Amino acid sequence: MSKDVQKQRAAEAAVDLVQDGMVLGLGTGSTAAHFVKLLGARVREGLQIRGIPTSEQTRILAEKEGIALTSLGDEGKVDLTVDGADEVDTAFRLIKGGGGALLREKIVASASDHVAIIVDEAKCVDHLGQFPLPVEVVPFGVRVTYQRITELLGVYGEGEVNIRLRTDQFGEPYVTDSEHLIIDAAFNKMTNIEGLASSLDSMTGVVDHGLFIDLCDTLIIGSDNGARKLDKN
Ligand code: 5RP
Repeated sequence: MSKDVQKQRAAEAAVDLVQDGMVLGLGTGSTAAHFVKLLGARVREGLQIRGIPTSEQTRILAEKEGIALTSLGDEGKVDLTVDGADEVDTAFRLIKGGGGALLREKIVASASDHVAIIVDEAKCVDHLGQFPLPVEVVPFGVRVTYQRITELLGVYGEGEVNIRLRTDQFGEPYVTDSEHLIIDAAFNKMTNIEGLASSLDSMTGVVDHGLFIDLCDTLIIGSDNGARKLDKN
C-alpha cells in the first residue's frame, strides 16, 4: 500500500482525539493536510473547534475547509496539536521541518497541552539523522552562521556531514513564512541529540532547528491495516 494511504490512516486516527470546543494546532505537510481535510468534514457536520495553523500553506487549506481560525495571541494555549514529522525515533524524538515550517510548528507544539504526531511507517527509525536536519537561520550573516553550523556538526555527527542552504524550485534561497533561511544538515549518524539541540539553541544567528525533543505525547503510525497509537509514558 502507498505511503499516502498510511498517512491518511494516521490522520483518521488523530481525528478521534478531537473534542468539541477544542483549540487545535494544525500542522504542516502532506500528512497534516489529510488531518485538516478530515477535520473540515467534521466541522461541516457541526463540530465546533478553532484552529491555529502552523504555516501559510495550512492557513489557506484550513480556510478552504471552513475551519474557524484563531491565533496564539488570542488563545494563549492550545488543547491539542496534530502534526506530521520527517523522522521519529523510539524515544519519541523527532526531526521536523522538511516542509519549512519548523519554527511555527515548534512554537505551537510547545504551547500545546497535548501533541499528536501522525506518520507513515517509513518515518519510524532507530537513529535520527538519515533525514537532513533543517536549521532555520536569519539571512543576515548567513555565511558566518553556515560556517559555525558546519563546525558544530563535525562534533555531533559521525562520518561525513553534508550541509547546504535550501533552495526553492527556481534555485533561489528558500524563504520561510517568517522570512528566514533554512540550512539542511545531512548526517551519516547523529550522536548526542540533546547536546546538538542545545548547542544549536544557543548559537547566534540560528532561529530554531528541527529537533523536537519532549514535544510528542502521542505517536500515531499509519499502516496498511489501520493505525497504531502509542502514548509516551
Ligand atoms: C513541515 C514538517 C512536516 O510535518 C514534515 O516535513 C512531514 O511532511 P509530510 O507529512 O509531507 O511527510 O515538519 O515543516
